[in-house]
Amino acid sequence: MQKLAIQGGTRLNGEVRISGAKNAALPILCASLLTCDSLQLSNVPDLNDVATMRKLLQQMGVKIELSGGQVVLSAAHIDKLEAPYDMVKTMRAAILVLGPLVTRFGEARVSLPGGCAIGSRPVDLHIKGLQAMGADIHIEHGYIHAQVPQGTGRSSGSGGGRLKGARIFFDLVSVTGTENLMMAAALADGVTVLENAAREPEVVDLAHCLIAMGAKIEGAGSDTISIAGVEKLHGASHRVMPDRIESGTFLVAAAAAGGDITLTDARADILENVLEKLQEAGASIQAAGSTINLKMSKRPKAVNVRTAPYPAFPTDMQAQFMAMNTIAEGSAMVVETIFENRFMHVQELRRLGAQIEVEGNAAVIKGCAQLEGATIMATDLRASACLVIAGLVAQGETIVDRIYHLDRGYEHIEAKLSALGAQIRRLK
Ligand code: EPZ
Repeated sequence: MQKLAIQGGTRLNGEVRISGAKNAALPILCASLLTCDSLQLSNVPDLNDVATMRKLLQQMGVKIELSGGQVVLSAAHIDKLEAPYDMVKTMRAAILVLGPLVTRFGEARVSLPGGCAIGSRPVDLHIKGLQAMGADIHIEHGYIHAQVPQGTGRSSGSGGGRLKGARIFFDLVSVTGTENLMMAAALADGVTVLENAAREPEVVDLAHCLIAMGAKIEGAGSDTISIAGVEKLHGASHRVMPDRIESGTFLVAAAAAGGDITLTDARADILENVLEKLQEAGASIQAAGSTINLKMSKRPKAVNVRTAPYPAFPTDMQAQFMAMNTIAEGSAMVVETIFENRFMHVQELRRLGAQIEVEGNAAVIKGCAQLEGATIMATDLRASACLVIAGLVAQGETIVDRIYHLDRGYEHIEAKLSALGAQIRRLK
């Protein structure tokens, strides 16, 4: 089990390049299944989850070439319409192959993702949407079996019939639910309207890629997306958008530790809520083109956050702000409305001396002057980022264990933090 050793107390100064967005790259990699032409992607981040997704696609028959930051995928010969449990259990986003497989081949067999540390995270909305589009779906031995009955106008000879357009209302806003059904609708017969759709920038980035492939999509980024299905999609090239959560994570780290950092290859327009909260905490922020500069010369002020679907405050930034609040001036409340168990980092922060009381989905943090370094354990991706931030501001050495969580979603994080002056190293 790899660990990170962090000596706290150094300010962060310098430049850091933001990588491509994990949560845009994952659905876009799955979009390669929608065409027999090749899809050329750039700015794909070098992450464990991205490597897992590549392996999953390759075991289905997708040919993948990597050259530099470029990934070229070709799904001309798919010989397996299945996502096995051993790959889905480590990465829930594998569910994103379901929509593309069903709409292009008329059938699919995808393992149910199972729960994860932050919540049960069902996929009932994905399934309900595909059923509305004509797929017969049953769950058996932990697998989702989807089949589109023959005789529904499929042009290509393979597998089952063709999905048909439908009007689908999401009871809950679901990011990958929206993405799965948008991809399914791209090749369906007729128009699909997704209501109460997710508005996340990663959904928009996927839509841009699909449109470049020939899909007819309107309204991505709003809560109503309409997709007019086409017979075939063709190849395209697409550059993955910058990772807004990686951007937010570095900005919060600098706001907590103090310093002057500049993000490059970033986008401020998709981080407005986070930037406002950082200014409320006392940071000064300058955004220009693809750079975001943050200066923080004093102790941050505590800020209240309440997570909700985009464009509200992102749940993926909740743990990082809690870390900043542990050493901020004053008290703050953090309310998590998306996932039912996304406070796993609280007990780890308490080991560093943080004063946090949890009541249901609300946590009250009383800022203290100083955290004391200790050995702590990462439990999920964003919680591990939170613990790294806490280690940067704690006095003495902090050891963060189980950092495989971190490697799933942050590209070379200790190298990027060291370049900003942090005293951080990986213990084998
Ligand atoms: C995406 O997960 C992200 N992952 C998550 O990022 C992010 O936290 C989440 O959206 C919310 O923004 C990817 O994009 C790969 P949801 P997703 O479906 O799509 C419930 C990270 O750290 N729900 O928007 O799985 C669900 O339980 C990860 O990068 C259902 O009930 O999240 C949750 O409470 C963590 N039924 C809420 O909706 C469904 O069918 C939102 O989930 C689907 C979801």
